[in-house]
Amino acid sequence: MKILVVGGGGREHAIIKKLKENPTVEKIYALPGNGGMALDAECHPEIGAKDLEGVSAFCKANPVDFAVVAPDDPLVLGMVDRLESEGIPCFGPRANAAIIEGSKVFSKNLMKKYDIPTAGSETFTDFEKAKAYVESLPCPIVIKADGLALGKGVVIAQTTSEAVEALRGMMLDKMFGESGNSVLVEEFLTGPEVSVLAFTDGETVVPMVSSMDHKRAGDNDTGLNTGGMGTVAPNPFYTKAIAGECMERIFLPTIRAMKAEGRTFQGCLYFGLMLTPGGPKVIEYNCRFGDPETQVVLPLLKTDLLTVMQAVQKGTLKDINVEFSSGSACCVVMASKGYPQKYESGFPITLPATADDEYVFVAGAKMDNGVLKTAGGRVLGAVKTAPTLREAVAGAYALSEKITFANAYKRTDIGKRALSQTEKD
Ligand code: AMP
Ligand code: GLY
Repeated sequence: MKILVVGGGGREHAIIKKLKENPTVEKIYALPGNGGMALDAECHPEIGAKDLEGVSAFCKANPVDFAVVAPDDPLVLGMVDRLESEGIPCFGPRANAAIIEGSKVFSKNLMKKYDIPTAGSETFTDFEKAKAYVESLPCPIVIKADGLALGKGVVIAQTTSEAVEALRGMMLDKMFGESGNSVLVEEFLTGPEVSVLAFTDGETVVPMVSSMDHKRAGDNDTGLNTGGMGTVAPNPFYTKAIAGECMERIFLPTIRAMKAEGRTFQGCLYFGLMLTPGGPKVIEYNCRFGDPETQVVLPLLKTDLLTVMQAVQKGTLKDINVEFSSGSACCVVMASKGYPQKYESGFPITLPATADDEYVFVAGAKMDNGVLKTAGGRVLGAVKTAPTLREAVAGAYALSEKITFANAYKRTDIGKRALSQTEKD
């Protein structure tokens, strides 16, 4: 089989590595891919993930049997609709279902309508009304732009003036363009965060092993928000009892709600949850695999990924058994110093040989005259799977020590909070 993967980050590298385990896969094209995955896929840096015309033309010239659309933008733009209309079976939701991530106002209204637990909120399109509302509330308070904003559209305001500034930036200064036409003003929730990715064909929902992201740039969750500096799986805060509650109160109701709205969701649905004193609540939905959650979740998947993805696409997910290893995984992201703000790139990267339970998933790198060089904020993830979380964390850090490039930066405490929870008793 020939497979197309749309996207070019560490998440896509993890998907590609896993798909390659299936012996019927003869070739994987990655559009655009990146220089660090060139050994695993044929990359085409000239075709961007949002380029519907380019991807469609590529598939006409290079027929593919199955496509996986991984990032949010092409899904929201209708890449799956387009490829399906050209006869290509796809893994990923159509645009009318990808709106669950594409519009936070849509997803908030869905949760309200179907009684799915989430933070209380109000939606505004008028700046003065939004301002008057936040001035009437205690802080902290959460301000969210409606649309996609490169993961930057959420502000946790500690003071009223910060909240008003955030509203001004989004609604008047249009710092995220159209995404700020509507904003949500949301109640601030507390508790451990859990990411649960789930396969769903629109009827059946199969949660994958849970994970924990580390979003802040600095140790002990300090500094700016990033795309994610590391992950562990499973997430020790997510007990069996909580998983059962989430299935009944969140996962199944969401899948049913989408179907009832005529927006059947097929693909990977990401539930960003907060385990609040009042029970688990939805912080956000993503219409895709998380990054860097995928880098720890897929290495623990025992069932063949292509088989699962095809079942999702055909609507036969209930007929297969999706199994995960009982072990743990840790991903330590190595970034360019300065990320998520200004950083330099273009430095040569040296990668070590890896054992069967070690992976280097490359994100921000390009091939330059046969030399792999840094080309992004988050450069790669060093991943280790092991029987225990402690071994996985130690192993991921040991692997990261063998990877070198100038100006490398990583957090030193990935998995620390999870370990203290795991080893509490
Ligand atoms: P997002 O960009 O939607 O992933 O949000 C970024 C981060 O903001 C989340 O991972 C949470 O840590 C935090 N967050 C979002 N909404 C809330 C909320 N209502 N209460 C507290 N924290 C929140
Ligand atoms: N790790 C968070 C995300 O993929 O949105």
